[in-house]
Amino acid sequence: MNQPLSTETIYNAQAGNWLRSEKVLLSDFTARPRVLEELGDIAGQDILDFGCGEGYVSRMILENGARSIFGIDSSAEMIGQAQAMAAELELSTASYTAANAVTFDQFPQKSFDKAIAVFLFNYLTIEEMTQVMTKVRSLLASTGTFVFTVPHPCLPFMREETPPFYFEHGEKSYFDGINQTFEGKIWRRDGIPVSVRCVHKTFSHYFEALKAAGFNLLPQVNELAVTDEHLALDPEFFGPMKGYPLHVLFKVQVND
Ligand SMILES: C[S@@+](CC[C@H](N)C(=O)[O-])C[C@H]1O[C@@H](n2cnc3c(N)ncnc32)[C@H](O)[C@@H]1O
Repeated sequence: MNQPLSTETIYNAQAGNWLRSEKVLLSDFTARPRVLEELGDIAGQDILDFGCGEGYVSRMILENGARSIFGIDSSAEMIGQAQAMAAELELSTASYTAANAVTFDQFPQKSFDKAIAVFLFNYLTIEEMTQVMTKVRSLLASTGTFVFTVPHPCLPFMREETPPFYFEHGEKSYFDGINQTFEGKIWRRDGIPVSVRCVHKTFSHYFEALKAAGFNLLPQVNELAVTDEHLALDPEFFGPMKGYPLHVLFKVQVND
Protein backbone atom coordinates (compact mmCIF):
# COMPACT_ATOMS: atom_id res chain seq x y z
CA MET A 1 0.00 0.00 0.00
CA ASN A 2 1.29 3.51 -0.84
CA GLN A 3 2.32 5.66 2.13
CA PRO A 4 0.29 8.91 2.33
CA LEU A 5 2.27 11.99 1.29
CA SER A 6 3.52 14.17 4.13
CA THR A 7 1.83 17.55 4.58
CA GLU A 8 5.18 19.22 3.75
CA THR A 9 5.36 17.31 0.46
CA ILE A 10 1.81 18.30 -0.46
CA TYR A 11 2.39 22.00 0.27
CA ASN A 12 5.87 22.17 -1.24
CA ALA A 13 4.46 20.71 -4.46
CA GLN A 14 1.46 23.04 -4.74
CA ALA A 15 2.86 26.26 -3.25
CA GLY A 16 2.46 28.03 -6.63
CA ASN A 17 -1.30 27.47 -6.59
CA TRP A 18 -1.60 29.06 -3.13
CA LEU A 19 0.30 32.26 -3.97
CA ARG A 20 -2.20 35.08 -4.33
CA SER A 21 -2.72 38.77 -3.72
CA GLU A 22 -6.51 38.81 -4.03
CA LYS A 23 -9.40 36.46 -3.20
CA VAL A 24 -8.97 33.28 -5.22
CA LEU A 25 -9.85 30.21 -3.13
CA LEU A 26 -13.36 29.46 -1.89
CA SER A 27 -12.17 30.08 1.69
CA ASP A 28 -10.68 33.48 0.70
CA PHE A 29 -14.32 34.54 0.40
CA THR A 30 -15.98 32.43 3.08
CA ALA A 31 -13.44 32.44 5.93
CA ARG A 32 -10.38 34.71 5.75
CA PRO A 33 -12.25 38.05 5.69
CA ARG A 34 -13.94 36.97 8.95
CA VAL A 35 -10.55 36.32 10.57
CA LEU A 36 -9.52 39.91 9.81
CA GLU A 37 -12.85 41.20 11.07
CA GLU A 38 -12.63 39.26 14.34
CA LEU A 39 -9.07 40.42 15.04
CA GLY A 40 -10.58 43.89 15.42
CA ASP A 41 -8.27 46.84 15.90
CA ILE A 42 -4.70 45.68 15.32
CA ALA A 43 -3.04 49.07 14.84
CA GLY A 44 0.50 48.95 16.24
CA GLN A 45 0.18 45.33 17.38
CA ASP A 46 2.53 42.34 17.06
CA ILE A 47 0.74 39.36 15.55
CA LEU A 48 1.69 35.68 15.35
CA ASP A 49 0.52 33.63 12.34
CA PHE A 50 0.86 29.87 12.93
CA GLY A 51 0.61 27.88 9.67
CA CYS A 52 0.96 31.13 7.70
CA GLY A 53 1.38 29.46 4.29
CA GLU A 54 2.58 31.91 1.63
CA GLY A 55 1.56 34.84 3.82
CA TYR A 56 -1.74 35.94 2.26
CA VAL A 57 -3.41 36.64 5.63
CA SER A 58 -0.20 38.03 7.13
CA ARG A 59 0.01 40.62 4.37
CA MET A 60 -3.60 41.70 4.97
CA ILE A 61 -2.85 42.02 8.68
CA LEU A 62 0.03 44.39 7.93
CA GLU A 63 -2.15 46.34 5.49
CA ASN A 64 -4.65 46.72 8.36
CA GLY A 65 -2.06 48.49 10.51
CA ALA A 66 -0.32 45.83 12.60
CA ARG A 67 3.23 46.72 13.67
CA SER A 68 4.69 43.32 12.88
CA ILE A 69 3.79 39.84 11.80
CA PHE A 70 5.68 36.66 12.57
CA GLY A 71 4.67 33.64 10.49
CA ILE A 72 5.73 30.04 10.74
CA ASP A 73 4.91 27.19 8.41
CA SER A 74 6.29 23.68 7.97
CA SER A 75 6.50 24.03 4.16
CA ALA A 76 9.82 25.56 3.05
CA GLU A 77 8.29 26.43 -0.34
CA MET A 78 5.35 28.28 1.21
CA ILE A 79 7.75 30.18 3.50
CA GLY A 80 10.03 30.97 0.54
CA GLN A 81 7.06 32.55 -1.25
CA ALA A 82 6.03 34.49 1.87
CA GLN A 83 9.57 35.86 2.19
CA ALA A 84 9.78 36.72 -1.53
CA MET A 85 6.45 38.59 -1.42
CA ALA A 86 7.50 40.47 1.73
CA ALA A 87 10.75 41.52 0.00
CA GLU A 88 8.93 42.55 -3.19
CA LEU A 89 6.38 44.61 -1.25
CA GLU A 90 9.06 45.96 1.13
CA LEU A 91 7.26 44.69 4.22
CA SER A 92 10.17 45.13 6.60
CA THR A 93 8.20 44.02 9.70
CA ALA A 94 7.15 40.67 8.24
CA SER A 95 9.29 37.72 9.40
CA TYR A 96 8.77 34.13 8.31
CA THR A 97 10.36 30.88 9.46
CA ALA A 98 10.02 27.31 8.21
CA ALA A 99 9.23 25.28 11.33
CA ASN A 100 6.80 22.76 12.74
CA ALA A 101 4.19 24.59 14.82
CA VAL A 102 4.08 21.66 17.27
CA THR A 103 7.75 21.82 18.24
CA PHE A 104 8.41 25.51 17.54
CA ASP A 105 9.90 27.28 20.55
CA GLN A 106 11.53 30.60 19.81
CA PHE A 107 9.93 33.45 21.74
CA PRO A 108 9.63 34.34 25.42
CA GLN A 109 6.17 34.32 27.01
CA LYS A 110 3.70 37.13 26.24
CA SER A 111 5.51 38.27 23.08
CA PHE A 112 2.41 38.85 20.94
CA ASP A 113 -0.80 40.88 21.15
CA LYS A 114 -2.83 38.52 18.97
CA ALA A 115 -2.39 35.16 17.24
CA ILE A 116 -4.09 33.40 14.34
CA ALA A 117 -4.07 29.86 12.97
CA VAL A 118 -6.02 29.83 9.71
CA PHE A 119 -6.71 26.21 8.73
CA LEU A 120 -3.67 24.82 10.58
CA PHE A 121 -5.36 22.53 13.12
CA ASN A 122 -6.87 20.33 10.41
CA TYR A 123 -3.31 19.08 9.79
CA LEU A 124 -2.69 18.19 13.45
CA THR A 125 -3.93 15.45 15.76
CA ILE A 126 -5.93 16.44 18.83
CA GLU A 127 -2.81 16.02 20.97
CA GLU A 128 -0.69 18.17 18.61
CA MET A 129 -3.41 20.83 18.43
CA THR A 130 -3.52 20.97 22.26
CA GLN A 131 0.28 21.46 22.34
CA VAL A 132 0.06 24.33 19.84
CA MET A 133 -2.83 25.99 21.71
CA THR A 134 -0.82 25.75 24.94
CA LYS A 135 2.10 27.45 23.23
CA VAL A 136 -0.12 30.16 21.74
CA ARG A 137 -1.61 30.77 25.19
CA SER A 138 1.85 31.31 26.69
CA LEU A 139 2.98 33.58 23.84
CA LEU A 140 -0.01 35.93 24.14
CA ALA A 141 -0.09 39.08 26.23
CA SER A 142 -2.42 39.23 29.26
CA THR A 143 -5.15 40.78 27.12
CA GLY A 144 -4.34 38.73 24.01
CA THR A 145 -6.74 37.26 21.48
CA PHE A 146 -6.48 34.01 19.51
CA VAL A 147 -8.55 33.55 16.33
CA PHE A 148 -8.49 30.29 14.41
CA THR A 149 -10.49 28.61 11.69
CA VAL A 150 -10.98 24.92 10.89
CA PRO A 151 -13.13 23.01 8.42
CA HIS A 152 -16.58 22.42 9.89
CA PRO A 153 -16.38 19.00 11.60
CA CYS A 154 -19.71 17.91 10.06
CA LEU A 155 -18.92 18.90 6.46
CA PRO A 156 -17.15 15.64 5.43
CA PHE A 157 -20.28 13.69 6.37
CA MET A 158 -22.75 16.03 4.67
CA ARG A 159 -21.42 16.48 1.13
CA GLU A 160 -20.48 14.23 -1.75
CA GLU A 161 -16.94 14.45 -3.07
CA THR A 162 -17.69 17.18 -5.60
CA PRO A 163 -16.38 20.76 -6.21
CA PRO A 164 -15.82 23.27 -4.83
CA PHE A 165 -14.91 21.69 -1.44
CA TYR A 166 -14.96 18.23 0.08
CA PHE A 167 -13.20 15.76 2.36
CA GLU A 168 -13.29 11.97 1.88
CA HIS A 169 -14.41 10.27 5.08
CA GLY A 170 -14.47 6.78 3.53
CA GLU A 171 -16.09 4.27 5.88
CA LYS A 172 -15.54 6.46 8.95
CA SER A 173 -18.36 8.09 10.85
CA TYR A 174 -18.32 11.34 12.85
CA PHE A 175 -17.28 9.47 16.03
CA ASP A 176 -15.09 6.66 14.73
CA GLY A 177 -13.10 8.94 12.43
CA ILE A 178 -11.46 10.82 15.32
CA ASN A 179 -7.79 11.65 14.60
CA GLN A 180 -8.11 9.96 11.18
CA THR A 181 -6.86 11.87 8.13
CA PHE A 182 -9.48 12.70 5.49
CA GLU A 183 -7.99 13.84 2.19
CA GLY A 184 -9.84 16.64 0.42
CA LYS A 185 -9.84 19.35 -2.17
CA ILE A 186 -10.84 22.98 -2.25
CA TRP A 187 -11.23 24.91 -5.48
CA ARG A 188 -10.06 28.25 -6.71
CA ARG A 189 -12.57 30.34 -8.64
CA ASP A 190 -10.53 29.85 -11.79
CA GLY A 191 -11.29 26.11 -11.64
CA ILE A 192 -7.96 24.92 -10.18
CA PRO A 193 -8.27 22.59 -7.16
CA VAL A 194 -5.70 22.44 -4.34
CA SER A 195 -5.24 19.43 -2.09
CA VAL A 196 -6.12 19.82 1.58
CA ARG A 197 -6.52 17.37 4.43
CA CYS A 198 -8.41 17.17 7.66
CA VAL A 199 -7.36 15.22 10.74
CA HIS A 200 -10.90 14.76 11.98
CA LYS A 201 -12.04 16.12 15.33
CA THR A 202 -15.51 16.55 16.77
CA PHE A 203 -16.76 19.91 17.99
CA SER A 204 -16.04 18.93 21.62
CA HIS A 205 -12.34 18.43 20.92
CA TYR A 206 -11.82 22.12 20.18
CA PHE A 207 -13.41 23.15 23.48
CA GLU A 208 -11.50 20.50 25.43
CA ALA A 209 -8.17 21.51 23.84
CA LEU A 210 -8.74 25.21 24.57
CA LYS A 211 -9.53 24.40 28.19
CA ALA A 212 -6.47 22.12 28.52
CA ALA A 213 -4.33 24.92 27.03
CA GLY A 214 -5.45 27.32 29.78
CA PHE A 215 -7.98 29.43 27.88
CA ASN A 216 -10.54 29.71 30.63
CA LEU A 217 -13.11 32.02 29.00
CA LEU A 218 -15.80 30.67 26.68
CA PRO A 219 -14.74 31.10 23.04
CA GLN A 220 -16.83 32.92 20.48
CA VAL A 221 -17.85 30.35 17.85
CA ASN A 222 -19.09 31.15 14.32
CA GLU A 223 -20.15 28.53 11.80
CA LEU A 224 -19.28 29.98 8.39
CA ALA A 225 -21.16 29.43 5.13
CA VAL A 226 -21.65 31.03 1.73
CA THR A 227 -23.68 34.22 1.91
CA ASP A 228 -26.16 35.89 -0.44
CA GLU A 229 -23.32 38.20 -1.55
CA HIS A 230 -21.19 35.21 -2.59
CA LEU A 231 -24.13 33.70 -4.48
CA ALA A 232 -24.83 36.98 -6.26
CA LEU A 233 -21.15 37.35 -7.21
CA ASP A 234 -20.71 33.88 -8.73
CA PRO A 235 -23.74 31.55 -8.47
CA GLU A 236 -22.04 28.78 -10.45
CA PHE A 237 -19.02 28.60 -8.13
CA PHE A 238 -20.67 29.17 -4.74
CA GLY A 239 -24.09 27.62 -5.52
CA PRO A 240 -23.11 23.99 -4.75
CA MET A 241 -22.11 25.01 -1.19
CA LYS A 242 -25.37 26.83 -0.41
CA GLY A 243 -26.80 25.71 2.92
CA TYR A 244 -23.74 23.70 4.06
CA PRO A 245 -21.60 24.58 7.09
CA LEU A 246 -18.12 25.10 5.62
CA HIS A 247 -15.81 26.28 8.38
CA VAL A 248 -15.82 27.17 12.06
CA LEU A 249 -14.17 30.30 13.44
CA PHE A 250 -13.13 30.33 17.10
CA LYS A 251 -12.11 33.49 18.92
CA VAL A 252 -10.84 33.29 22.46
CA GLN A 253 -9.46 35.87 24.86
CA VAL A 254 -6.67 35.50 27.39
CA ASN A 255 -7.82 36.29 30.90
CA ASP A 256 -4.77 36.74 33.15
C1 LIG B 1 -4.67 25.41 4.33
S1 LIG B 1 -3.04 26.07 4.40
C2 LIG B 1 -3.39 27.68 5.07
C3 LIG B 1 -2.27 28.64 4.93
C4 LIG B 1 -2.56 30.04 5.47
N1 LIG B 1 -2.87 30.01 6.88
C5 LIG B 1 -3.70 30.70 4.71
O1 LIG B 1 -4.76 30.88 5.29
O2 LIG B 1 -3.53 31.02 3.52
C6 LIG B 1 -2.39 25.20 5.80
C7 LIG B 1 -0.93 25.51 6.09
O3 LIG B 1 -0.55 24.83 7.31
C8 LIG B 1 0.79 24.41 7.16
N2 LIG B 1 1.05 23.35 8.15
C9 LIG B 1 0.51 22.12 8.22
N3 LIG B 1 1.01 21.45 9.26
C10 LIG B 1 1.88 22.29 9.89
C11 LIG B 1 2.69 22.19 11.05
N4 LIG B 1 2.73 21.07 11.79
N5 LIG B 1 3.45 23.25 11.41
C12 LIG B 1 3.44 24.40 10.66
N6 LIG B 1 2.69 24.55 9.56
C13 LIG B 1 1.90 23.51 9.17
C14 LIG B 1 0.86 23.94 5.71
O4 LIG B 1 2.21 23.85 5.24
C15 LIG B 1 0.03 25.00 5.00
O5 LIG B 1 0.81 26.07 4.54
